[in-house]
Amino acid sequence: MCGIVGYIGPKNAYPIIINGLKRLEYRGYDSAGIALIDKEISVFKKKGKVSDLEEFVSDKNTAGTIGIGHTRWATHGEPNDVNAHPHVSMKGEFVVIHNGIIENYSRLKKRLEDRGYVFQSETDTEVLANLIEYIYSFSNVSAEIAVRLALSKVIGAYGILVICRHEQDKIIAARKGSPLVIGIGEGEYFFASDATPIVEHTKSVIYLNDNDVAIVTKDELSLKTIHNVQVNPKVQKLSLDIGEIEKGGYDHFMLKEIFEQPKSILDTFRGRVALDRKSIHLGGLHDVFDRITHAKRIIIIGCGTSWHAGLVGEYLFEDLARIPVEVEYASEFRYRNPVIFPDDVIISISQSGETADTLAAIKLAKEAGALVLGVCNVVGSSIPRETHAGVYTHAGPEIGVASTKAFTAQVTVLAMMATSMGFKRGVLSQEDYEKLIEELYNIPPKIEEILSFNEEFKRIAELYKDATNFLYLGRGYLFPVALEGALKLKEISYIHAEGYPAAEMKHGPIALIDQHMPVVVIATKDKSYEKIVSNIQEVKARKGIVIAIVNKGDTIIRDLADHVLEIPESHEALAPLLTVVPLQLLSYYIAVFRGCNVDQPRNLAKSVTVE
Ligand code: M6R
Repeated sequence: MCGIVGYIGPKNAYPIIINGLKRLEYRGYDSAGIALIDKEISVFKKKGKVSDLEEFVSDKNTAGTIGIGHTRWATHGEPNDVNAHPHVSMKGEFVVIHNGIIENYSRLKKRLEDRGYVFQSETDTEVLANLIEYIYSFSNVSAEIAVRLALSKVIGAYGILVICRHEQDKIIAARKGSPLVIGIGEGEYFFASDATPIVEHTKSVIYLNDNDVAIVTKDELSLKTIHNVQVNPKVQKLSLDIGEIEKGGYDHFMLKEIFEQPKSILDTFRGRVALDRKSIHLGGLHDVFDRITHAKRIIIIGCGTSWHAGLVGEYLFEDLARIPVEVEYASEFRYRNPVIFPDDVIISISQSGETADTLAAIKLAKEAGALVLGVCNVVGSSIPRETHAGVYTHAGPEIGVASTKAFTAQVTVLAMMATSMGFKRGVLSQEDYEKLIEELYNIPPKIEEILSFNEEFKRIAELYKDATNFLYLGRGYLFPVALEGALKLKEISYIHAEGYPAAEMKHGPIALIDQHMPVVVIATKDKSYEKIVSNIQEVKARKGIVIAIVNKGDTIIRDLADHVLEIPESHEALAPLLTVVPLQLLSYYIAVFRGCNVDQPRNLAKSVTVE
């Protein structure tokens, strides 16, 4: 969480940094701040959004060709002006912005207090600023050495930008655990937590690795480790397009991303399904394909929506490839001393590729000798670099905090993996294999059709916008979709919602049902169709309000439910890709009708880089 941006070059840094912060605001929006060097260092910071900061500085001097900026998701200390970044060291020698957590900050703080340091904020970042300053003054070393020595004392994660009052020609950047990218222009450099603020200026970038420290003037970049070993920077070309990170006429990024799904799923297939649609080749798994195909067990790890995609994966791998699967919350897996065998295959799923718990779980699995794969969306992020092999989802940038197109892209990748592994294992015949590929190809036009019913989802959303609770029910492949529908609703509309396997209802949640409870039942035709019809009857018998997602032409449920939302039929294993779309739109419109900030829901951030 937290977004950091920096600029050094011949131009006015302020507009570049403010625009960059707006692009990164999805990473946190509790406060924003900026520091500019124009002979002196000026620091402006404000609780709230980047727009609040802009208003605050509107009558101030924002000159300067070097600057750093920050948008915060609060960890240490409440969101207020004082805890906002940048943080200035006690004597004003250093200014620091930081994304991550310094775990041993209280011990370091105590030591600094013993040496006379007084702190203004409750943050861990101010401790780092003062530690750098203390080393700088006490040891009489350069800013770069002070930063490297300070970082060698730090336990935790950081992406930082540092400027020094006495060395005003440079920005020092360092990374461990939290992402940092440097864009290379003509006589100028751009810094950011991800490439989105950089792409409009340059396509040449360097992704810093853990323990890298970059010392950057407007003419030169020098890269070394914190232990002072020179590193050759690896310059990469961004394939990101500026249009992908703009709203493109939609009211919100979330709506744009929901509507992008026919294309994003096609992008996920692209280059992986043969032109004759008779085979799947996942290049990123080529070297390990035999090993994963013969895995005795797969463990899928992820958080939030990615964990829900993992649950769909469990059904896919067990059903289509007959490989036993366990699905784990990364945060539970990493702390509960799990049994991991060297012949296990771990699939880590993450949109951002930066989720701290998932990264820690990956580390644990690697230490146990397992083969660890990544299914990630953000190219160049940490998880693809930490895993042995993997598959990018290629859904394009997802900026709305609520994950939508990343989910369908993750499920698409898992479906491609399970299908090709099932064929290789002899579970699927040539005919089954080709049929599934064909069915996958039919998903994007079917989503187009679902999206054309947009007004209907909106109408139902308006009817239930004031509900205080929702229940979501599904069975089999559709149970994870129920969980995902409930998560979408609660995170953006703040309505309490729970997802359940429909058959579990009678073991408790049925007690909640009365005439005020909307129950969303995902009831497309599959082998448990008749059972779910019974579940709907049980809800109706208690006067619950049933909103059912059904296949076109379903007359049985139409007669029972209060509302039906029709979608096209599909192969049972691919139904999550279709059924989730009405749920995304239902949540979206309910949140809009309630006046919620859809793209930036309260208390959340897009990439969760804290544990
Ligand atoms: O980037 P990741 O996929 O690892 O993120 C995991 C969760 O934080 C994420 O899915 C979160 O639950 C979303 N806000 C859900 O919409």
